[in-house]
Amino acid sequence: MGDQDLKAFFQSSFGAPPAHVVRAPGRLELLGNHTDYNAGLVMSLAVDKYVYIAATPRQDAIVELASTSFPGRDCFYIDHIARNPAAPWANYIKGVLLELKKSGVHFTGFNAAVHGTIPFGAGLSSSAALEMATTLIIRELFPFSLRENSLDAPPKRENGKLPPLTPAEKLRLARIGQAAESEFVGVKCGLLDQISSLFGKQGQVIQTDFLHLTVQHDPMPPGVAIVVADSAVKHDLAAGDYNEVRAQCENAARKLGVQFLRSVTPAQLEENKSKLAPREYQCAFHIVGENQRVIFGERALREGEVYQFGQYLFQSHASSRDYFKNSTPKLDALVEIAQKLKGCYGARLTGGGFGGATINLVQQDALEQFKRRLAEEYYARTKIRTEPWMARIVDGAQ
Ligand code: GLA
Repeated sequence: MGDQDLKAFFQSSFGAPPAHVVRAPGRLELLGNHTDYNAGLVMSLAVDKYVYIAATPRQDAIVELASTSFPGRDCFYIDHIARNPAAPWANYIKGVLLELKKSGVHFTGFNAAVHGTIPFGAGLSSSAALEMATTLIIRELFPFSLRENSLDAPPKRENGKLPPLTPAEKLRLARIGQAAESEFVGVKCGLLDQISSLFGKQGQVIQTDFLHLTVQHDPMPPGVAIVVADSAVKHDLAAGDYNEVRAQCENAARKLGVQFLRSVTPAQLEENKSKLAPREYQCAFHIVGENQRVIFGERALREGEVYQFGQYLFQSHASSRDYFKNSTPKLDALVEIAQKLKGCYGARLTGGGFGGATINLVQQDALEQFKRRLAEEYYARTKIRTEPWMARIVDGAQ
């Protein structure tokens, strides 16, 4: 199902065609795990799985939402935005609407239909894509431009199109999504997923420095395929594991006398190990190592040393497994199998962890065999069927 089918679904749900359609891609975390909220470094990719929203404004202050993935509608007044246990998927939209309101963005009601191709719970952040698609559809329906603490004059359409978002606007929209997730959904996530969904560039790796909030791009070397393998064990970030490791990192930073673990070097961490509880040390060790791996990884990729880059992916996974403990036996199995297969440069869990998927960098020539063998051997070990797929690196939300 693509744009056209969503338009037809909208028409059949609301009796008229939509005024606008937007889409926001999912993301893969390439290297730099849980470093974002530690003000660290991450390499990520926007990939060709999307959340689409089609919508039309209405004047009676009512929002009506339909989804191709869930039965029933969610319907509410914009002055009474509250959780509906029958439609938890709508929380991401509602959280964003509340945050936009807080920022002074004015909107009346609307009808919207949502469609997604990002697998749920696989660690590709369908939630951030839904949040970013929500900010973009509101911008289409009720144009606004967010400044740091106020609103700018609304953007004007030229030839029916709004001007592209500036990097500063993208960062503000990313913050809206993050606030929605932390206030309304209850996950104290960082900014990685929202930034990746907005700043994606076709064929390029997104490199974000979360201390300075700067984003750069570097090309992915040719001949390297990106393969995603879902462990088929769902993760639920709201379940608390994510907030728990985040708290460990923050406690460690406080005990080390820094605002963020980003400022801690491996040597400083070892010198001050006795100040930390064992779990705090393990979490800090992972974060400090991840930042180092991203620094070296960026250099390796720029110089086309894909083999070396892949080693950092394997190391990252081992650190997740042994120190941060956000891997699972199934994710470990996927990485172990991948590591022995022909043409695999590197593999690791991607995203929050505690379930979800692995990302694999594979020699293009070995792609088909790699996917097949990974699925076969994973099934032989776990009796779980998975269908590894190749992801393409795409432009950000629009
Ligand atoms: C989730 C969060 C992100 C980031 C990753 C781990 O995807 O939403 O902010 O912390 O986990 O790197």
